[in-house]
Amino acid sequence: MFTLKMLHVFCAYATGVGFILRGVLVILDNPARHHRVTKRLPHLIDTCLLFSGLLMVLYWNISPVTQHWLLAKLVALLFYIGFGLVMIRWGNTEIRRWIGLLGGVLIYCYIVGVAHSKSVFSIFSFL
Ligand code: HEM
Repeated sequence: MFTLKMLHVFCAYATGVGFILRGVLVILDNPARHHRVTKRLPHLIDTCLLFSGLLMVLYWNISPVTQHWLLAKLVALLFYIGFGLVMIRWGNTEIRRWIGLLGGVLIYCYIVGVAHSKSVFSIFSFL
């Protein structure tokens, strides 16, 4: 179980770094944004992140109904995916791509804060 959590945490930080790097490539309209690795690696990392998270949820029998931090994480994950789509696919103007990048980074920070604090208030619960 420890290894699964380590994999989850590794993928959690890898997705964040990947999101920012991809966002920079998109905003600079760098040709590397269309490279096979740039397109496929994030899918692999995000699949590992989701499955390792789901396996921990099943193993520890945690429910989003009673554990509100988990529910907050799942809802925020939908926004993270949405901002990613705005940045990569739907952002047909520079301002929209920036909104996708900055919105995604903000939501990502919220999720990491929720994961560490186990609170819907994320990093604000430490204040
Ligand atoms: C962008 C998405 C996600 C990020 C950035 C993320 C990040 C993290 C981090 C950093 C931890 C370690 C927290 C700690 O031990 O201090 C963690 C733990 C965990 N995450 Fe995620 N996570 C994400 C998505 C998910 C999803 C989709 C699920 C469930 C389906 C999930 C379920 C869990 C569980 C069960 C733990 C272990 C909590 C515990 O130690 O009791 N995570 N996550």
